[in-house]
Parts: sequence; structure tokens; C-alpha cells
Amino acid sequence: MDERAYAGNEHLDPTYVPGYDRKASTDPTEDVTALVAAGLHATHTLIDLGAGTGTFALAVAPLCRRVIAVDVSPVMLALLQQKVAAQQIANVEGVPGGFLTYQHQGELADFVYSRHALHHLPDFWKALALQRIAAMLKPGGVCYLRDLVFACEPGEIAQVIADWLAGAAAQAADGWTRAELETHIRTEYSTYTWLLEPMIAHAGFQIHHTQRDSPIYATYTCIKKA
Ligand SMILES: C[S@@+](CC[C@H](N)C(=O)[O-])C[C@H]1O[C@@H](n2cnc3c(N)ncnc32)[C@H](O)[C@@H]1O
Repeated sequence: MDERAYAGNEHLDPTYVPGYDRKASTDPTEDVTALVAAGLHATHTLIDLGAGTGTFALAVAPLCRRVIAVDVSPVMLALLQQKVAAQQIANVEGVPGGFLTYQHQGELADFVYSRHALHHLPDFWKALALQRIAAMLKPGGVCYLRDLVFACEPGEIAQVIADWLAGAAAQAADGWTRAELETHIRTEYSTYTWLLEPMIAHAGFQIHHTQRDSPIYATYTCIKKA
């Protein structure tokens, strides 16, 4: 599939991307702490798939040897690379590519991180993406996956979505508006936890830890089986 065609038009838009960090206001601290707790250390290689503007990649860089920040959007990647240059960070490489196209070079990775990006792929392709992630990792390596995944039954989804939309931001600059969340539901591929979790297992991972912050957001710490 053409990953860029499914990447979300806004992520390819040079007028949208400069406002992304303010809009997302992502604090990477919780994820950095979780990765350190999962064993991340100074000799490790980490791949961030769908790295966006690099908020996580830059935050984690001081704690590992090599960070490979991969994204299909040239606009996102350009902003990430600008930040890397401005902050003179030597161990973050921005690489154009996607879940289905990134070709890992060199020693296998110790960690793969991905936040709010896998839902750009339909389930058929998610399963292949997860298998490709497993192939990038050393045995025992960790895949830390955060995404918008529905933790409910189909009969509950209307209420779950209504509750989610009710909490949407009023202004697009400050967060995701109702119209943007509706676009997510209509055109992107967030799936159910009870579909994604078996896909993770089929790719050769053991789900070591699951965190569900709401019926919409799930975080998985997955260990590649030997
Ligand atoms: C919502 S943003 C999240 C960015 C970043 N991970 C964060 O948490 O701020 C989704 C990112 O995934 C990227 N993306 C979309 N489809 C992708 C794919 N198939 N492979 C890699 N990246 C993809 C988009 O270009 C965008 O940068």
C-alpha cells in the first residue's frame, strides 16, 4: 500500500505541521520513564516509527546510543531534523519511511517505540507492520506501542465515541476538535483491543504490560519472544 496516501493529509501539510507541537502538547516523560523501567540503557538502539516532529526521539536520545526516527511525512521529518540540528543532537537519525517500508540497517534494535501512528494502517497491514517490527528487534527486545485503540464491544462503541467527542478541544490550535476526531473515526483505522492484541501475539510478541488510560487509548509493552 502507499503509506503516504494513508498518513493523514494534515501530517503532510506544511501549514499544519509547525503548529503540531503546541496542539499535541505531548509530555514524553511517562514514556521515557517506562522505557528505562523496561531496561533501556546507554548502549541501546531505539527505532521510533511514525516519529512525527520528534518530541519523544529527542527526549530519549540522551539515554541511548542510537535513535532512528522514521516517518513517511517529509514535512514532519524536516521539522524533526531542524530540531536535531538546532539542539546539536548527534545520535538521532531522521529516516524517511514507514511501518511497511523502513529497511533497518546495522545491528538489530533493542527497542521499537511508536506513538499514535499505527492506526494509519488498516488491520491487514497492521499485522504485517507488527511482524516487521519484530524482525527489527533482537530476541527479548521491547516494542512499546501507544495508540488509539477501542477497549469496548461493538455494542458499546456509539457511547464510547460520543463520550470521546464530548471532550474534544474547542480550538484546533489547542487540541483535536470534534471535526478532527470525527475524521479520525471516519478515515483512519483505530481498531478494537480484542483485534490488536492477538495481532501483537501473532507477530511473535508477549504482551508484558497493558495500560488503558480510557476506552480510547492503550499502551502495550511487548517483548519479542526468543
Ligand atoms: C499523530 S502523529 C504522531 C507523531 C508522534 N509519534 C507523536 O506522538 O507526536 C502520526 C505520525 O505518523 C506518521 N505516519 C502515518 N502513517 C505512517 C506510516 N505508515 N509509517 C510511518 N509513519 C506514519 C505521520 O506522518 C505522523 O507524523
